[in-house]
Amino acid sequence: MYYGPDQAQIHHTRFGDLAADAARLLIARLHASGLTDGHVTDLGCGSGILAAALLQAGYAVAGIDISADMIDLARTNAPAGSFTIGSVHDAELLPSDGVTATGEVLNYATDPRAGLDAFSELAVRVFAALGPGGVFLLDVATPGRNLGMNPRHVFHDHDSWMLGMHATEDGARLDRRIVILMREPDGRYRRVDEHHVLMLYDVPDVVTALESVGFTVEARAAYTVATASTPVSGWAVFAATKPR
Ligand SMILES: C[S@@+](CC[C@H](N)C(=O)[O-])C[C@H]1O[C@@H](n2cnc3c(N)ncnc32)[C@H](O)[C@@H]1O
Repeated sequence: MYYGPDQAQIHHTRFGDLAADAARLLIARLHASGLTDGHVTDLGCGSGILAAALLQAGYAVAGIDISADMIDLARTNAPAGSFTIGSVHDAELLPSDGVTATGEVLNYATDPRAGLDAFSELAVRVFAALGPGGVFLLDVATPGRNLGMNPRHVFHDHDSWMLGMHATEDGARLDRRIVILMREPDGRYRRVDEHHVLMLYDVPDVVTALESVGFTVEARAAYTVATASTPVSGWAVFAATKPR
């Protein structure tokens, strides 16, 4: 399972800082391109954190996510946005000034087509959807995402939930086995299991895929600043601009 109701809520409350930071960079880049209003397409929009910030800044936002539970949250958190359940690889891309894919969206093997070929095909469609000066802002997980640990274990302890992750990295594949314990009102705990598979992409391959369709590409280690959720290695941000 990928992003059922509990994992979606946990992502929203604990890991949303990355999307908020991405929104700051996107707004700055759009303003630098003279695009102070317009339309943003958020691929893998999750719980609508980036969408809410872009709406607040005066943009119209359409989001798509494969998780129905994430879309429920997005509709609540960004009610002025337009949200669809579906795969980014099927998404019809409206003419846009910005397109985003934050939080390793394009690595997730939720869709059997996930991989560099699908990434390259999507880059072609994003380039076509963007106007001159438009920005495609995304991050991807790269080899080394497990920080050299194999397996890597992560544990988060929160008032009403605990989350443990056992992650193994094998070549271009990362498996994250996640166990969540949700505390019920009666004090008992309910267990939820998720298994996330991510395809890892090398930075030069991502740059090549973006440049070969015409983007000017800047690779970065963070959106604006490192937040609590910014990975310290095995991860990169790409700000790809469509030349005027
Ligand atoms: C780590 S979350 C990031 C959510 C949001 N972009 C953010 O930054 O907060 C990854 C999201 O990608 C979505 N996702 C994964 N594969 C997808 C696909 N093929 N099409 C659409 N959404 C996908 C998941 O459902 C999940 O909401």
